[in-house]
Amino acid sequence: MKQFDAVARVPGDPILGLMETFRADPNPAKLDLGVGVYRDAFGLTPVLAAVKQAEQRLVDQESTKAYVGGHGDADFGKQVTRLVLGDDAALLQRAGMTQTPGGTGALRLAGDFIATCLPGRRIWLSDPTWPIHETLFAAAGLSVAHYPYVGADNRLDVPAMLATLNEVPIGDVVLLHACCHNPTGFDLAPEDWRQVLDIVRSRELLPLFDLAYQGFGDGLEQDAYAVRLFTEALPEVLVTSSCSKNFGLYRERTGGLLVIASNPDALAAVRSQLASLARNLWSTPPNHGAAVVATILADEHLRACWQEELEGMRQRIVTLRHGLVKALEPYGLSEGFAHIAEQRGMFSYTGLTAEQVRRLRAEDAVYLLETGRANVAGLDAERLDALARSIARVVR
Ligand code: LMR
Repeated sequence: MKQFDAVARVPGDPILGLMETFRADPNPAKLDLGVGVYRDAFGLTPVLAAVKQAEQRLVDQESTKAYVGGHGDADFGKQVTRLVLGDDAALLQRAGMTQTPGGTGALRLAGDFIATCLPGRRIWLSDPTWPIHETLFAAAGLSVAHYPYVGADNRLDVPAMLATLNEVPIGDVVLLHACCHNPTGFDLAPEDWRQVLDIVRSRELLPLFDLAYQGFGDGLEQDAYAVRLFTEALPEVLVTSSCSKNFGLYRERTGGLLVIASNPDALAAVRSQLASLARNLWSTPPNHGAAVVATILADEHLRACWQEELEGMRQRIVTLRHGLVKALEPYGLSEGFAHIAEQRGMFSYTGLTAEQVRRLRAEDAVYLLETGRANVAGLDAERLDALARSIARVVR
């Protein structure tokens, strides 16, 4: 009996599929503004110098390849927890990290935890959000709902967001992008976060922060603002933290799910569930990326070197944002695209339509997502004028 003949094909992943289409394009002038990967002035995604040094140390000193435990590397967990939460001792006592394969693994573990231990809770996502949020939580068996985030004018719509959050059933889970909102690049201001916190508290919602770009928005500390505001004010918070972008460890799948509970007993119970759920997902997490991160964060010199490299990446993106808006000036488009310079992190919701995006790809081999999301970190400073010319042509 042949069973596979009846298997239906599904469409490729909107982001990874575009990455593959781009790789297959023979045009030497092609430009990849699709997948969220940082690129330097040469269009490369280099291994950070701090990572190289840490890896060398590991090669010299690593003494075993035996499994790590279900929660992963404890040093990694402690170091990344401090990176996210800061040094508040009382808070650290009720926090624990479970290492996961990337931030996506952390999101899936959170999804399984909610489905298993908090049955009946819906998860509320921003509209729009990272497309994998939609499919991942549905795959975990959760019912997914949405709160508005961006209005028809392609601008952040905080009043609409707050109005919907005010209607969310008591106890539901709300996913919040801690910084560098993916896909829009629009972040909430501190006063907006305080309003969201008030609603989350009064409706007893469980906040789940996706922190995938710490250090890419306004800086390492600044990007943790919302997470720290909520964790200091609330008894229970979940945070997924990714080291893909800020340590450039994309393919090493390095991240963690951070649980903040109201007391050590509750924390231990939740962590026991997470270890059990993770055992059914990936058994124990991969070690290499986490060992690299733990090595860097524990060493003053490596840490300083890493922070400098991270800040360099962040500033390059800010410069590119302003450069693109300036390059659009001769076409009378700098005002209409001024939001590109105001957004934060890797991504910009440009406001380009799917049709305009298709033309950019067909006519100039410029690749971005059909939603109009562009990876600003993929821009080339030398080619901003050419890109502005292409954009001007398709929006006319
Ligand atoms: C993106 O949104 O492009 C990145 O987060 C990479 C991914 O896994 O989709």
